[in-house]
Amino acid sequence: MDKIVIIGGQRLEGEIPISGSKNAALPILAATLLGKGDHHLTNVPDLKDVTTILKLLRRLGVTIQEDGDSLALNASTLTSYDAPYDLVKTMRASILVLGPLLARLGEAKVSLPGGCAIGARPINLHLMGLEKMGCEIEIRSGYVYARLLGSPAKNNKRLQGARIYLDTTTVTGTENLMMAATLANGTTILENAAREPEVIDLANFLCCRGAKISGAGTDIITIDGVENLKPMDYRIMPDRIEAGTYMVAGAITGGNLYVKNCIPRHLEAVIFKLKEAGVQIIEDGDGLRVKGLERPRPVDVKTLPYPGFPTDMQAQMMALMSIGTGRCVITETIFEGRFTHVGELRRMGADIKIQGSSAIIQGVTRLLGAPVMASDLRASACLILSGLAAEGETQVLRVYHLDRGYERIEAKLQKVGAKIMRSKGES
Ligand code: EPZ
Repeated sequence: MDKIVIIGGQRLEGEIPISGSKNAALPILAATLLGKGDHHLTNVPDLKDVTTILKLLRRLGVTIQEDGDSLALNASTLTSYDAPYDLVKTMRASILVLGPLLARLGEAKVSLPGGCAIGARPINLHLMGLEKMGCEIEIRSGYVYARLLGSPAKNNKRLQGARIYLDTTTVTGTENLMMAATLANGTTILENAAREPEVIDLANFLCCRGAKISGAGTDIITIDGVENLKPMDYRIMPDRIEAGTYMVAGAITGGNLYVKNCIPRHLEAVIFKLKEAGVQIIEDGDGLRVKGLERPRPVDVKTLPYPGFPTDMQAQMMALMSIGTGRCVITETIFEGRFTHVGELRRMGADIKIQGSSAIIQGVTRLLGAPVMASDLRASACLILSGLAAEGETQVLRVYHLDRGYERIEAKLQKVGAKIMRSKGES
């Protein structure tokens, strides 16, 4: 397994380009299952998770041509409705094919995603919504078997529109049900829907194809089912979490970074908190200029569904607060296990105590480089950030986690002055 080696202490200066959004690309790729014809997608990030979902789509019969960050996909002839464990186990977002397969074929067999490093990650709300839309769901031997109630898949009966209240705000749950509802009979109303920008990007893609969706970006989304959807060319939105991660890279190294091709309004909560910590942030053209400082002021953070502070930026903020000038509290309200980076930060000298769903951070003057272990995607990013700021050498092991969600991270950081390199095949 690869590891990344960083010699800390370099101020990052220059411009970092942001790639397409992983969490917009995954549902939009799944949505190509909903109809026939050629889709051309651009600004698709080169990530392991994207590679995984492309493998899954090919298994289902989608033909795909890749050319850099552009993809041509055609789902006219689907040959399977089975999303197997060997693929789903590597990426839980594979569950996003469930809704489209049911809408298109009336049947689906999708492996249960299983938990991961940050929590149990149930899909009960996805399944509850599909049952309300007329599906029969059975869980057997680690798989979800779903089909339209009372009718063999081939007699192309359709999902029924329904009013669905989501007890917990779920991003992929909202996306799965929104996709399923586009081809249902009648109207579906999703209440307490997720408001993330990635949900809006998916809705925009679907509406360009003829879907009738209103309210995306609010907590009530209404979908009027249509007969079919046409193929479409579409450009994936920029990745707001990648952008936020590099904003923290500029802040934590006391540097001066221009984060290019991001959408500031997607990052309002992050911008607010970084400014509260004393980081200078200037909106400039199609990006943000970030000027760090020696040590940030301590700020309390609580993760919330969008537009609150994103859970996917919690670990990165903790890295920054680890060298803050005082004490602060970071509370994680979305996932029950998203503090796996705390033990590794402590190895670098951070002073952090966990109390339930909160971490109490007492800032220290400097972190010291050390070998540390990545455990999930955003924890890996946190360790890269702390390595950039630490004195001496940091080795981040198991960086395959990182490659799931950050395109060419060491190349992007090297270009702005970081002393960072990847050692292939290390333990
Ligand atoms: C999406 O995951 C993102 N992934 C995650 O990003 C992100 O952290 C998360 O939303 C929250 O913003 C993608 O979009 C591919 P949820 P998702 O369903 O949809 C509970 C990253 O690092 N829940 O919004 O799986 C769940 O346990 C990844 O890029 C249920 O109880 O998250 C959690 O506590 C990590 N039942 C809360 O809802 C359900 O049926 C939010 O989860 C579904 C979810």
